Formats: sequence, C-alpha cells, structure tokens
Amino acid sequence: MAIKFGRPLQHKIGFMAGEPDASAGAPAPLDLPTRMRRNRRSEWARRLVRENVVSTDDLIWPLFVMDGDNARSPIASMPGVERLSVDQAVREAERAAKLTIPCIALFPYTDPALRDATGSEALNDNNLVCRAIRAIKKEVPEVGILCDVALDPFTSHGHDGLLRDDGVIMNDETVAVLVKQALVQAQAGCDIIAPSDMMDGRVGAIRRALDTEDLTDVSIMAYAAKYASAFYGPFRDAVGSSKTLHGDKRTYQMDPANTDEALREVALDIEEGADMIMVKPGLPYLDIVARVKDAFGMPTFAYQVSGEYAMIMAATNNGWLDGERAMMESLTSFKRAGCDGILTYFAPRVAEKLRSEK
Ligand code: PBG
Repeated sequence: MAIKFGRPLQHKIGFMAGEPDASAGAPAPLDLPTRMRRNRRSEWARRLVRENVVSTDDLIWPLFVMDGDNARSPIASMPGVERLSVDQAVREAERAAKLTIPCIALFPYTDPALRDATGSEALNDNNLVCRAIRAIKKEVPEVGILCDVALDPFTSHGHDGLLRDDGVIMNDETVAVLVKQALVQAQAGCDIIAPSDMMDGRVGAIRRALDTEDLTDVSIMAYAAKYASAFYGPFRDAVGSSKTLHGDKRTYQMDPANTDEALREVALDIEEGADMIMVKPGLPYLDIVARVKDAFGMPTFAYQVSGEYAMIMAATNNGWLDGERAMMESLTSFKRAGCDGILTYFAPRVAEKLRSEK
C-alpha cells in the first residue's frame, strides 16, 4: 500500500521514493511540481535549454613553425600536433580559413644555433615568425594572426626575459627588448600582439610603441594571469626550450595558489591598454576565468595549454577516454566559466566536428 502524505509533508520529503504498491505493481507517482528531468528528456529539449555552446568563432589555433621546405615533424608529447615549415603553415592557415576558424597563433621552433643569451633572433625582422606572418598574410589575409611576445623560443637559457649572472630575470631591461620584438612582429603583419612574458609594465610600453609607430590598429591580447604551471611541458618540447631551461619561471609567472593577485594583474593590463585578456592554463584555472569575467566584463580568453591537450590525448590513445567527448566537454566548460574564446590545439578537430553536425 502506498502511504498517502498530505501535500506539505510530501513536499518536504520529496526526495523519498513512494513505497511500492504491491497490488498495482507500480509506485504511485511522486507529487513533484518540479521535475528537472523534463528538460533533459530528449535531444531537442536539451538543445532548447542549453546555456553555453562552443562555436568555431571561439577558436584560436596555435601552430608551431620551423625551418625547412615542405616539412613536418611530429611532437612526441603532443600526439596529432606537428611543427610545420612555413609553406606547410600556410597550408594549415588555408585550412583554418576553410573551416572559418577566426585566428591562428604562431610559435617558432628556433634553430638552436640562433639562440643566445639575449634572444637577439627575436628582433630579426626576417626570423621564422616574421616569415610565416608574411607568407600567411599574403595567401590567406582573412585569417587573424596572433603572436607571442616573450623571449623563450630565442634564448639559450629558455627564459622569457634577460637573465642576469646572479639568476635574476631583469624586468625593465626585458621590457625594452619585448617592445622591439612586438614592433618587428606588428610590422611583419601580425594582428594581435600577445605578451606572454609576465614582466611588469610591458603592455603599456608595447601599446605606446605601437601607437608611436602608427600601428594603432594592432591589438594586444595580454597573457594577464599566467601561472607558473607544470602543464606547459609539451609546449617547451615543441619550441625546443625544455632541455635548455635554467631553473623555473616562478619569479615572473604567477603562483598557482593565488586568485586575488590575478585580478590585480588583469586590472593593470587593462589600464595599460590591453584589448583582450587571457588566463592560462585553462581547465585547472576556470575559477580565475569566472572571477575575471565577472569583475571586468572584458573580452576574456583562456589557453587550453599543451599539457591539457596531452592529457586528453594520452588517455584517449590508451582507450581510457572518449577523446571527442572529452574535447567538447572541456571546451564547453571554458565557455560556461565565461570565456569569449579559447586557444586550443583541438581547434581544427572542433571546427570539423561542428561543421559535420550542421
Ligand atoms: C612562452 C609561452 C609558453 C606557452 C605559451 N607561450 C610556455 C611558457 O611560458 O613556459 C605555453 C603554451 C602551452 O603550454 O601550450 N612564454
């Protein structure tokens, strides 16, 4: 016998199942005014109430460029990602355009012979990045190009800034070099300058220099809250700085334990003229994304970094995860946290998947 409760009482214990009714063979329906599952019961209903969706318009696709002709070399710790010679980077930029991915990001694997203590190759207006920018802008002008400003792909010691004999990374001296690096890239045709070095005052210095050189249309996406993270390991393999890195980057990148400090970093970069701001890494730092988006309402991006990509790919290749679902779920979480866009090595796969579903 099902026990009948009065309405208020039943409401209070709404989570308890009704007792089985032996005679009817089925329990009496719970008297629930709200059943959350109604909105989940079919695909059309789930689509109708969905709050966040990943779109191709959200994607920035990072590419690694290297010397050579018609050449590609795999990166062991990033299955499915390759370093590309400039002509191959152009092919991938064409693919981005076809897939309507709005923007690509270029990272160089600099010949070790060209690396030195001051990262002087960063200022060569014919370096790999500049050659790639010009080649891509010539063939595929409709795709946006973002370039890192930081010295690590160019220094013999693997740091983002100038290293003093006593091990200190010098701030103001580094900013002076980064300004020149930014100008070299902007003059080659880069659309978005993305300082990833975490020196103090670099966004303002770069903005002033761009404006002085009549490059007022070049945007700045500040790596505003960038943490000293273990998740950059595979990227450092890709640009060839993992073996050379002396020490770690904890005197300039942020302590993973801090949140309020991220808000101060972002506030400063906005004051200094950043058009867009970025949090990095992504998935382990979505609380930072949510706070930053809430506090500033700026165009907010996060970088699903190499280690995040590597984890999903490694588990997928072991048969431990459904890779495509893990990819989409992780990126949806970035959107839910408040991202306007995401830098991700999955970009072409996501765009292909979204297109196939149309
Ligand atoms: C360079 C830079 C790094 C990344 C982007 N720009 C590495 C680092 O700071 O050591 C990491 C990107 C990734 O892991 O995918 N400053």
